[in-house]
Amino acid sequence: MVPSPSIPPGSPAQRIQAIASTAGFHFAFIEQGGTSLYPTLALKATSDEVLRILLSIGGVEIDHFSLWHDKAGNAVSQPLAGVIDPKNPNGATFPDLNDPATLARLHLQLELTQTNKILPEPCDFLFQEALPPCSVIRPTSTALGGAVATVNAFTADGLFNGQPDGFFDFAMQLATAADNARRQF
Ligand SMILES: [Fe+2]
Repeated sequence: MVPSPSIPPGSPAQRIQAIASTAGFHFAFIEQGGTSLYPTLALKATSDEVLRILLSIGGVEIDHFSLWHDKAGNAVSQPLAGVIDPKNPNGATFPDLNDPATLARLHLQLELTQTNKILPEPCDFLFQEALPPCSVIRPTSTALGGAVATVNAFTADGLFNGQPDGFFDFAMQLATAADNARRQF
């Protein structure tokens, strides 16, 4: 890996940059969840008011996702790429995902990692046999993007570390009820 030319390897500045770059990816991860969650729940809403809330806030989440998706790319492209957290060298490293040699070492292809690509990529959507690949942002199935999936993902990520058991029980109870809601018309 080529160290960042602008930040001396092993320096306190590398530590701070590693923390900032981790936060950049974490923000994107959280907004990614919201970008699935709001449309998934909108498909279940019966009340006009609830639907209005979900669509209005959901749009903001999509905007946040797009912003952090773009910002996270900065951590893995020059001049920042190459940061290695001096306190956690086996965990927090930010390789240059535009560098052909780095990609070859990681068995990745530039098509998938190029950091200045910010638009949703075409993928299989709804009926694989009937539709060509469509550009969509995130899954909108309850299993992959619903409330339970979101709580599970955020819990596994450590976002709620330190919360009492009652918190997780209540959050899961709310999430299960939300996923079980069905449109009434
Ligand atoms: Fe957000």
